[in-house]
Amino acid sequence: MTLPPKVKLVDVGPRDGLQNEKQPVPAAVKVELVQRLQIAGLKEIEVTSFVSPKWVPQMADAAAVMAGILRKPGVRYSVLTPNMKGFEAAVLSKPDEIVVFGAASELFSQRNINCSIAESIERFAPVVAAARGAGIYVRGAISCAMYCPYEGEIASERVEMVARLMKGIGVQHMGVADTIGMATPLKTQRAMEAALKHYDLNDVSGHFHDTYGQALANTLISLQMGIWQFDASVAGLGGCPYAKGATGNVATEDVVYMLRGMDIDTGVDLDKLVDAGKFISDYLERKPNSRAATALLNKRA
Ligand code: HMG
Ligand code: MG
Repeated sequence: MTLPPKVKLVDVGPRDGLQNEKQPVPAAVKVELVQRLQIAGLKEIEVTSFVSPKWVPQMADAAAVMAGILRKPGVRYSVLTPNMKGFEAAVLSKPDEIVVFGAASELFSQRNINCSIAESIERFAPVVAAARGAGIYVRGAISCAMYCPYEGEIASERVEMVARLMKGIGVQHMGVADTIGMATPLKTQRAMEAALKHYDLNDVSGHFHDTYGQALANTLISLQMGIWQFDASVAGLGGCPYAKGATGNVATEDVVYMLRGMDIDTGVDLDKLVDAGKFISDYLERKPNSRAATALLNKRA
């Protein structure tokens, strides 16, 4: 079995994690979280979303958060942009990467971004063109690539279709998302294979929510396919406001613990990452939603 020697982790905690919090989280706390993540060695951080504040009030401070972060050389900062309005606001804050987020499920597309899959591609096309024209890297995300909270199981052909459409408008990277964390490894493999029909192995990543405890297994089967890029969320924060009942992404601490044990390099210092997770969990007055972090914090105590 050959596995990738290194893995690129994108910590999506400040965005995917905090977008789902009921109580407002001040911009200063988000900025501090980003700071602690980069101190822990994260080289890719998904900071925020330039979305409608009526839809996702938690992300209303996107510009303030981007203005507040202390950029560290070698670290890349990404933001979500669903349309030109979001892109035009985002570009002022100089992201390294933007994310256009579509779905393999029609109903989820409607609920999340208020348009059909076909309309979303039309909306993304000028965003992608403008970003690439400005030298900003464009990542795409396909939500509900395996299961949808409204449509149930999603056929891998739908993932292939959205990957093809995104490729057609110039999206450079494809993130395959198990939005509600229901997928098991073979289902994940089929969704990844569908994206790989249109994207190179080096341009596909996994974004696994951990609702059913399957995310590490889904990460492992993706690694076995040669996929080496994954999103994860410090302290397992998160969920999507339009996917009720879905919990956070796989905890970055759990992924780093697994990869470290497999001699796969992530560049992340697990102890400092646990500190970052504890910082935000303390702020939110809860325990980190990470088995590895819990074990390591118990050991410290
Ligand atoms: P809409 O209502 O159809 O938009 O929303 P519209 O173009 O008709 O405009 C309506 C109003 O929104 C106008 O304001 C616009 O200016 C404003 P008004 O004239 O009424 O005062 N507006 C905006 N304001 C700020 N920023 C913008 C923006 N666009 C329009 N970018 C829209 C369409 C896409 C904007 C809306 O549906 C939206 O913001 N959705 C975001 C949903 C979201 O953020 N979901 C969570 C992130 S996705 C996710 O978590 C999944 C992921 O993690 C992968 C996975 O796990 O699956 C990525
Ligand atoms: Mg997500």
